[in-house]
Amino acid sequence: MSSVSLTLNGKPTTVNVDPATPLLWLLREHLQMTGTKFGCGIAQCGACTVHVDGEATRSCVMPVSAVAGKSVTTIEGLSPDGSHRLQKAWVAEQVPQCGYCQSGQIMQAASLLAKNKKPSREEIVQHMNGNICRCGTYQRIVKAVQRAAQEA
Ligand code: FES
Ligand code: FES
Repeated sequence: MSSVSLTLNGKPTTVNVDPATPLLWLLREHLQMTGTKFGCGIAQCGACTVHVDGEATRSCVMPVSAVAGKSVTTIEGLSPDGSHRLQKAWVAEQVPQCGYCQSGQIMQAASLLAKNKKPSREEIVQHMNGNICRCGTYQRIVKAVQRAAQEA
């Protein structure tokens, strides 16, 4: 165990964990922030996507030691009240089916819009390419990202 300090959803946070613990398990098991999901555990599905210093990051393979001193944002911190334009667009387009992959999808999309306010359809597809949805909601995801981009 050791003490690791980071900024989590804008708040200075210090945790006492094995520094090799994946960030995903720090969030879900130690901090009870369960919006971030476990899918594959090997960086292949995107369900666990969070932002580390603004970059979309697979938290299942990111040890807590690697986020010391960094800023981590999860789906819980994307907006204080769920009103991020992507969250509103997700509702408007009725994107989710089972919903399991969706927090990762939104965090992946948010990292795109933070850097590219008006992405083309091709850029959206490319950026979202590594986020798997077993329910096949891909077309609605693209439409929702386009809708959110229009509202920027
Ligand atoms: S659970 Fe992390 S990429 Fe699948
Ligand atoms: S909505 Fe079910 S896995 Fe994506």
